[in-house]
Amino acid sequence: MQRTLSIVKPDGVDKNLIGEVIKRFEKAGLKVVALKMAHLTKKQAEGFYAVHKARPFFDSLTTFMCAGPIVPMVLEGNDAIKKVRDIMGATNPKDAAPGTIRKDLADSIESNIVHGSDAPETAVFEIGYFFNATEILK
Ligand code: CMP
Repeated sequence: MQRTLSIVKPDGVDKNLIGEVIKRFEKAGLKVVALKMAHLTKKQAEGFYAVHKARPFFDSLTTFMCAGPIVPMVLEGNDAIKKVRDIMGATNPKDAAPGTIRKDLADSIESNIVHGSDAPETAVFEIGYFFNATEILK
């Protein structure tokens, strides 16, 4: 069993795709064990994406992530990190495989609908960024 953090980003919420994204995760056997809506401040978005601080797209990414509400969730299942990343598809929708969320639904590398943790250590940090222990189902 593994846990990972996923986020329906502001473009996904704006396009009424919260249910579509969750449906794809659930169909793959992943369990939603925590879920909330949030509207990040710029500082909170910068804290979440601190690992990308030196990247040229950091300001644009963090501005985008606080442009509207988001839906962070914790997903649990066998190999959850890889499963979520496979369901999301490549970061850039142009490179994403058919049938993935980003190929089917995303507009651009920035407006790419969904986020998923990329490694176990990242998942621990990202889950803790949005949820405390009492908010996650045992
Ligand atoms: P995400 O999986 O949330 O992780 C970092 C995000 O940075 C990524 O999805 C993209 O939405 C965003 N991003 C914006 N521009 C770029 C870029 N040129 N290369 C990689 N990621 C980018």
